[in-house]
Amino acid sequence: MQFDEKALRHLEVTYRAPEVAAQRRILLETIAGRAGERALDIGCGPGFVTEELAHAVGPSGEVHAMDNSESSVEMTRQRCAELGNVQVQVAEVTKLPYPDNYFDLAVSTQVYEFVLDIQTALSELHRVLSPGGRAAIIDTDWHTILWHSGNPARMARVLKAWDEHLAHADLPRTLGTLLRNAGFSVRECKAISYLDTEFKPEGYSYNMTKTIRGFVRDRQGITRQEADAWADELRELAGAGAYFFNLNRYLFLAEKR
Ligand SMILES: C[S@@+](CC[C@H](N)C(=O)[O-])C[C@H]1O[C@@H](n2cnc3c(N)ncnc32)[C@H](O)[C@@H]1O
Repeated sequence: MQFDEKALRHLEVTYRAPEVAAQRRILLETIAGRAGERALDIGCGPGFVTEELAHAVGPSGEVHAMDNSESSVEMTRQRCAELGNVQVQVAEVTKLPYPDNYFDLAVSTQVYEFVLDIQTALSELHRVLSPGGRAAIIDTDWHTILWHSGNPARMARVLKAWDEHLAHADLPRTLGTLLRNAGFSVRECKAISYLDTEFKPEGYSYNMTKTIRGFVRDRQGITRQEADAWADELRELAGAGAYFFNLNRYLFLAEKR
């Protein structure tokens, strides 16, 4: 999946959805950043989390944000331009450009699921946190999805093709073990459920439908017409009052032992 300028603009709209804003509130409450702390946002994307973290740690604190997409870094820089306590840079999650034991806390939402070498990425997270430092990680389990369709075979094929957009479609199932292997204690795991029974332009699943339709075209034998028909059916179901979408994300709070 390419996080280029066009994708980032659409991600920014998608991540303004009420479900995603509510997820950010849960994330920020769970990580509980305090004034003066040093915080890291891994895979900052459009920078909403970076901005909120900067307010949490205040002017006496620091927030460092990184992403391997230039467009993400640029969007986060612009969003945080007025904040004096934010530094943003291009980097890889498997090679974090920060000293050992530097951060009091780190967050990473919807990033590790894209990373093939997850164990190296988690070792890097562990290295840059101070002893007792905390990390809040959110990833989606795409195999928890319930998305109603009158054509379940087509829905299943579309979702199978969509699995190709990331390295681990069901990372939360093993994330606790991977975190412990990297030297963390897992303090908490919460499910965050996205439920849409209406197909509203401001909703998460409405915007994801556009992303998925574009991604699955010409993958696993799905034609452009089939992808369009899949998306059209969701609109029709909504018109008939029969729309239903549910997907779970999982938040892990871990501590460096
Ligand atoms: C779905 S977005 C999530 C953005 C942000 N964390 C949020 O929740 O608003 C995933 C982000 O992870 C970044 N990313 C994916 N793989 C990465 C890697 N190996 N190193 C650094 N960033 C990565 C992408 O460029 C993208 O900006």
